[in-house]
Amino acid sequence: MARFDPSDPAFIADPYPVLADLREAAPIFWNEASGQWMVTRWADVHAALRDKRLGRTFTHRYTHAELGKPEPDPRWADFEESERWSLLNLEPPDHTRIRTLISKVFTPTSVAALRPMVESTAHDLLVACRDRGRFDLLSDYAQPYSVAVICSMLGVPASDTELLLDWSHAIVKMYELTTTDEQREAANTAGREFVAYTRALIDHKRDHPDDLLVSKLVAVRDAGDRLSIDEIISTTIVLLNAGHEATVNTLGNGMRAFLHHPDQWRRMVSGEVPARAAVEEMIRWDGPLQLFERWVLDEGVEVAGRPLAVGDTIAMLFGSANRDPDHFADPTRFDAGRGDATHVSFGGGTHFCIGAPLARLEVEVSLRTLVALMPDVVLASEPAYHPTFVIRGLTALDLAVG
Ligand code: HEM
Repeated sequence: MARFDPSDPAFIADPYPVLADLREAAPIFWNEASGQWMVTRWADVHAALRDKRLGRTFTHRYTHAELGKPEPDPRWADFEESERWSLLNLEPPDHTRIRTLISKVFTPTSVAALRPMVESTAHDLLVACRDRGRFDLLSDYAQPYSVAVICSMLGVPASDTELLLDWSHAIVKMYELTTTDEQREAANTAGREFVAYTRALIDHKRDHPDDLLVSKLVAVRDAGDRLSIDEIISTTIVLLNAGHEATVNTLGNGMRAFLHHPDQWRRMVSGEVPARAAVEEMIRWDGPLQLFERWVLDEGVEVAGRPLAVGDTIAMLFGSANRDPDHFADPTRFDAGRGDATHVSFGGGTHFCIGAPLARLEVEVSLRTLVALMPDVVLASEPAYHPTFVIRGLTALDLAVG
């Protein structure tokens, strides 16, 4: 049987053949290194995402001791604090309460209203790239673009984007299967600084309210309920982090896919395939987030036919589910016009990505602008992936025009 080894450079370079072997061999397998049950097939991942007996956390139901887990390491308390009230660390009823409040102000309509700003940001940055002739799509475009969009939506000063990028890059290392103490230390420091920054920002918004998201989170009320300062801090941080890293990597991985499949790029340039459809294929074919975990919270849970015990963890392999031939026809083919939004890349159920409308808008506008401004774009050198599995993204995407 193929071996799941996320530290293997060959696996990172192209995990999909190994994932295909694993998926074909079994719907679920034990990964000794991480102590998790790995779920490989679309139907089981789709069902697990919607199973309320599985949670992103267990601490609302059990102590660490009850599940035989080590207590959280006090050295990383600042990082933990920054995420304490993140939607991603909560389950109902807290999750429902906080998500309801956030959803009142972070709505699809408020996202749609951003389109003119998103379009002009994309246009200005990409014109500068085109004029340079050769550029890195990630550092010259995708990063400044997606940070500018989320900052202007939240009402965070554009002058602080470098700070936010540094913190965000440090924090996301905590989500990998293998993290060094040095990386944990850096994430902890970033968490501390990020909390202090956000606290000051919220104070400022109280005195100088505007009609942007952080101010709206401060003001939002629902049936007498409101968000606490700590809840607003965690929410702002998760929106800033989630709001750009995955979008940047979708743009990088997706444009790499197009430039490796020039026939598909030509379908974009000729206008045959609408950008909106292509976005779904970019996210399905080589998604930016490859693995999400769940804890088993109740007795009697079966995942992919295997009975599991309370306290077990599963890891859903999104990249494997998204290429499952039992769900997608010819799944290894990058087909820009497939337009199939049933990929699992935005999750499903309780934690379904609240930023999906924004992510889709950002990627669609980028693709449309790239096609319009540089139909003849080519790879100037072969890109490489960061040596991380959970967050899948390129170190750079070196492009040339004209
Ligand atoms: C292509 C880009 C993106 C992808 C692939 C993506 C993917 C995901 C996935 C898979 C989840 C669910 C995690 C789970 O079930 O365990 C999620 C949740 C979330 N995402 Fe995204 N995301 C993207 C962009 C964004 C953006 C732009 C924002 C915000 C501005 C955002 C904010 C969030 C938040 C706050 C959650 C937590 C929701 C909850 O727990 O209720 N994401 N995202």
